[in-house]
Amino acid sequence: MTVHFIGAGPGAADLLTLRGRDLIAACPVCLYAGSLVPEGVLAHCPQAARIVNTAPLSLDDIMAEITSAHAQGKDVARLHSGDLAIWSAMGEQMRRLRALDIPYTITPGVPSFSAGAAALGAELTLPGLAQSVVLTRMAGRASAMPEGERLASFAATGAVLAIHLSVHMLDQLIAVLAPHYGDDCPVAIVWRASWPDQRIIRATLGTLDAAVGPELERTAIVFVGRTLASEEFAESRLYAADYDRRYRPTGPAPRFPEKS
Ligand SMILES: C[S@@+](CC[C@H](N)C(=O)[O-])C[C@H]1O[C@@H](n2cnc3c(N)ncnc32)[C@H](O)[C@@H]1O
Repeated sequence: MTVHFIGAGPGAADLLTLRGRDLIAACPVCLYAGSLVPEGVLAHCPQAARIVNTAPLSLDDIMAEITSAHAQGKDVARLHSGDLAIWSAMGEQMRRLRALDIPYTITPGVPSFSAGAAALGAELTLPGLAQSVVLTRMAGRASAMPEGERLASFAATGAVLAIHLSVHMLDQLIAVLAPHYGDDCPVAIVWRASWPDQRIIRATLGTLDAAVGPELERTAIVFVGRTLASEEFAESRLYAADYDRRYRPTGPAPRFPEKS
């Protein structure tokens, strides 16, 4: 018996990996994390599968479901939204599974920040403008931020920020970021990226407050950075005609000469 942690993707049911789909189809038990996992993904479960929404359950309740499946020798598909590497609560479940000697696997999924960037039609890293993306959040009711991970510290780097779980705190977010990025810095909020009711709001740090209504409370990412709206960036050297590289040796003395 194995627990298969599967990244269910950002929302659109077809943004699921083939491996994830096949594992879901092979597991007689499916535990899924609430409304962020779309019904279209659950449609891959076998007909007689036990399908449980874990949103109202405690960690102990979830482990009870898993140990019951374990006792019956039934594999479990454990679905979390997006990818499992960020804000999935997989870590604590794996720790309990290790303690119980229950085997597990991990199948990554499409993270929501990727779906958000795709919705914006954006490459977040552009030569000369930004080469780092910080996936972060602001402190929440249930989650304090470690001292060294303040938004202001990340802002001081000038990196592109993909701020999760914080769209209800825009006032604070703007107050922290504007001194670092400037009022004219582009901002985009992608709400429910890849879902049928996806919405995008584009603004600057200076105009954001007025651009956003109270209805965008949850399930959104706030992107901040110059790469969101600029045509003023360099082309990548990798594809420059005069750039000498292993797969395209060029110039009088190539570093990787073609073998004759
Ligand atoms: C508990 S975290 C899960 C993150 C997820 N593991 C991932 O890889 O994106 C939930 C937060 O992720 C973001 N999120 C998840 N799905 C989203 C979507 N489809 N569109 C925009 N933001 C999303 C929102 O910031 C939301 O509050």
